Amino acid sequence: MSKSAKIIYGDKEVECPVVEGTEGEVGIDISKLRSSSGLITLDNGFANTSSGTSAITFLDGEKGILRYRGISIEDLAKNSSFIEVAYLLIYGNLPTEQELLSWESEIKHHTLIKEDLSKLFDAFPRDAHPMGVLSSAISAMSTFYQEYLDPKNSHDVDQVIIKLLGMLPTIASYSYKTSINQPRVYPRNDLDYCSNFLNMMFSVPSEKYEVPSEVVEALNLLLILHADHEQNCSTSAVRLIGSSEANLFASISGGISALWGPLHGGANQAVMEMLNQIHLDGGNVQKFIDLAKDKNSSFRLMGFGHRVYKNFDPRAKIIKGACDKVLEKMGVDNPLLNIAKELEHSALNDQYFVDRKLYPNVDFYSGIIYSAINIPVNMFTVMFALGRLPGWIAHWKEMNEDPKSRIGRPRQIYNGENEYSYVDLNKRLNKKKAA
Ligand code: CMC
Repeated sequence: MSKSAKIIYGDKEVECPVVEGTEGEVGIDISKLRSSSGLITLDNGFANTSSGTSAITFLDGEKGILRYRGISIEDLAKNSSFIEVAYLLIYGNLPTEQELLSWESEIKHHTLIKEDLSKLFDAFPRDAHPMGVLSSAISAMSTFYQEYLDPKNSHDVDQVIIKLLGMLPTIASYSYKTSINQPRVYPRNDLDYCSNFLNMMFSVPSEKYEVPSEVVEALNLLLILHADHEQNCSTSAVRLIGSSEANLFASISGGISALWGPLHGGANQAVMEMLNQIHLDGGNVQKFIDLAKDKNSSFRLMGFGHRVYKNFDPRAKIIKGACDKVLEKMGVDNPLLNIAKELEHSALNDQYFVDRKLYPNVDFYSGIIYSAINIPVNMFTVMFALGRLPGWIAHWKEMNEDPKSRIGRPRQIYNGENEYSYVDLNKRLNKKKAA
């Protein structure tokens, strides 16, 4: 097979090397294209552009395959813990028993945030969106740990990784507790990662709170399923920010902001709002399917469609399976689950969705489980961020350790005004040019 590809334009012919990945994915390396031909490429939304190589996550959208460091998501969901998956993603291999114990212990001993940092939460309006609070607080962490900001110092980076993993749940729960005017609950080192988070979210000083084991199990599963997804929007944002050698706190804070949008992590909140809207409207699913198909309407079926998955999203399949189990165990009967199932069934049998290969994505059913375990809707995207944190870190670290990494700086095709002269204020007849 040829290991190069030719690009012919006018009388120019450029030979570009072809790079092949370990799973057979083939890409044309166009890095010398401009210098040898003056041409650049145009790829709206980077749908066909790889920003580099990565050994973290493999995804085959046609076959519905997702693997972290070579291990299938189904295998990890069944057998692993979120903290172990975080280690796997960040350090590239499953930890030994000893490594896992010391990793867990390190994280547990870095869950408490500085009292001065916690004052930040009082500065936000009570109804602040927790994603805004989360990204601000992570950015603020860089001011409290100035001695660890060198992205090229592996000791510093390891310290920041531990602090981020340890403190993000504390920060997330503080943003929630502050918003409902309840005392913030300090972390407890005798609890595992998920139980500690749930305790900080739901316990109050006046009552004993037992963390239900089925809730811990459900949370562990959801966090694993969200832990990485190769070059998605927020991970690309983290990599791009990090490519300027910005510190890890600053890069993660930017990733949280990118995740917030409804086309990305914010979709889980939007799905719940949509299901609720359908429920309140009398449950007429077809009406909303028709609206999603109507090109004169901006309404989209939230939780449906994916840039990469064109068959099914394996994460959605696992979550759907877990939904019934969790709701049954919790004794919850949520009418929104039936609406979601009906919506899925109708969409999957509708030519519009079939033709465009639109399937339920990870966000379609996750909100039903979050609701069942009492996570408020505006915290759903925060839950996504808690899960995605190890993936962001792994990508930032991989990029920083790659000797071939360069600052991210895309080109553009300029399509604005050609040069014209400055027009004095008193001579301007229209906004731009003198008549
Ligand atoms: N409802 C109705 N039509 C849709 C939807 C939808 N949810 N998603 C895509 N389409 C249509 C779109 O209108 C277009 O139709 P046409 O070819 O006639 O113009 C076609 O399908 C292709 O869509 P696109 O917008 O070009 O696809 P994209 O790859 O740029 O966008 C997406 C992917 C996920 C942003 C999009 O499917 C979407 O907006 N979905 C709803 C939001 C959502 O659930 N986001 C969560 C993604 S999964 C979690 C994560 O990793 O962030």
